[in-house]
Amino acid sequence: MKINNLGLLFLITAFFSCQQKNQCEIAEVITYEKDVAPVIEAKCFMCHAPDVYKKKASRVKIYDYKSLLAVANDKRLLGSIKHLEGFIAMPYKKDKKIDKCSILLIEKWVNSGLLK
Ligand code: HEC
Repeated sequence: MKINNLGLLFLITAFFSCQQKNQCEIAEVITYEKDVAPVIEAKCFMCHAPDVYKKKASRVKIYDYKSLLAVANDKRLLGSIKHLEGFIAMPYKKDKKIDKCSILLIEKWVNSGLLK
């Protein structure tokens, strides 16, 4: 079988786009305690931990299930990490986003019922 350049290009593109889709390993069922809390702690607690939020990050509390739930429900959680219009971009530096897989994980949590 003979593959021309276009065919080869197609195969290479298909291969890499396939790989990219599998980059994020996101569980079937997402819960706050198992999946979301570790991400928030790692990526947001330098400003939003219970003991620092008064000094640094404001009145915006996201350090336990109840407080994060409130921010998820009023749309600010996704709005801020996805840098949507009308929200303060997080993590509080213009142009800087957390990694794509973490955003997808949090988005899936929000869209699948905000399980504890
Ligand atoms: C460098 C410090 C810093 C980091 C890191 C940070 N934040 Fe914030 N966050 C802030 C500050 C400051 C505000 C603004 C608070 C205010 O105006 O009261 C804020 C506000 C918010 C708001 C409210 C946004 C709005 O539009 O009202 C949300 C939601 C939020 N942060 C979530 C997060 C999440 C989720 C992360 C981790 C991915 C994160 N933050 C990381 C400092 C930070």
